[in-house]
Amino acid sequence: MSWNERALKVLTAGEVTPLIDVPVRVPGVRLVLKDESAQPTGSLRHRHARALFRQAVRDGLIGEGTTVVEATGGNAAVAQAWHARRLGLPYIVVMPGKRGEQRARPVGELGGECRFVTPPPAIYDAARRIEGHFLDQFGRAAEHDLAEELFGQIKPDWVVTGAGTGATSATLGRWVRERGERCRVAVADPENSAYFPGWTLDAPDYATGMPSRIEGIGRPRMEPGFRPDLVDRVIPVPDAASTAAARHIREITGAPVGGSSGTALWAALELIERMRERGETGTVVSLIGDAADRHLTTYHDDGWAAERALDLAPYTARLSLLRPVGG
Ligand SMILES: Cc1ncc(COP(=O)(O)O)c(C=O)c1O
Repeated sequence: MSWNERALKVLTAGEVTPLIDVPVRVPGVRLVLKDESAQPTGSLRHRHARALFRQAVRDGLIGEGTTVVEATGGNAAVAQAWHARRLGLPYIVVMPGKRGEQRARPVGELGGECRFVTPPPAIYDAARRIEGHFLDQFGRAAEHDLAEELFGQIKPDWVVTGAGTGATSATLGRWVRERGERCRVAVADPENSAYFPGWTLDAPDYATGMPSRIEGIGRPRMEPGFRPDLVDRVIPVPDAASTAAARHIREITGAPVGGSSGTALWAALELIERMRERGETGTVVSLIGDAADRHLTTYHDDGWAAERALDLAPYTARLSLLRPVGG
């Protein structure tokens, strides 16, 4: 068997992530979390990374001994370092910031190398200058295997996801359209992101130029991997709502989920409130994007929220719709 054939075998689908039911005080409405924090590297990026590697091996861009390169400050680096190690490939990630940051540690433990660059937008050019294959998760935004797995587990009426590269919403949207599923796809979009205004105005070049405070999702411009035509609704979510909803998930699962999981849950709540008003029934699936101890000092920390003037109280009150009766 050639190196490429072996690599493609290693890169076939992994473990199925679990579904977690959330109580809902609306008769006939079910809310389910798809828990991507159960991935071996703790986030949805595990699937992205696998898809990017697969595509690059099939296209002949990665072979035996190729150095794999990426530019990111987030979960993608850990997921990619994990796959690179399984394939025995060197891995270098360019991150925004200064040497010695905590984020480098899990990548180093997986045998990867972190290089730090400022200002943040310079990471992409720095990565392109490194000899090797630049995975380019935003430029290539490979569709992944979430939809196949999810729709094999459950038949929802709505699936709610955030959008970073746009790959997840595109994967889900294409799946339901190709197969004629009745499910609709909603994107939950945080403050400062270009996706809600860009989708609403049908403006593919829309840019806010502002970074999102919700790690992993919300972008300052419409990214090429985001496919507005494959999305049924984009729901804007205030950062305080994302934060309150992330805490709500932690109460249910015990895991310190990231803000993006809260963004998706809040948008799911908005959909459920509309369903209740119209007397509709059905099932909503919302993604847990990641969980990590570092989120304990941000989204789950009162001081962090206060410094940003995030008033969670009104959102926490509305989240009581997602509590057991008497809970
Ligand atoms: C809840 C949730 N949805 C979606 C995404 C991003 O997906 P994509 O980059 O495929 O748009 C993330 C990534 O962090 C996430 O946490």
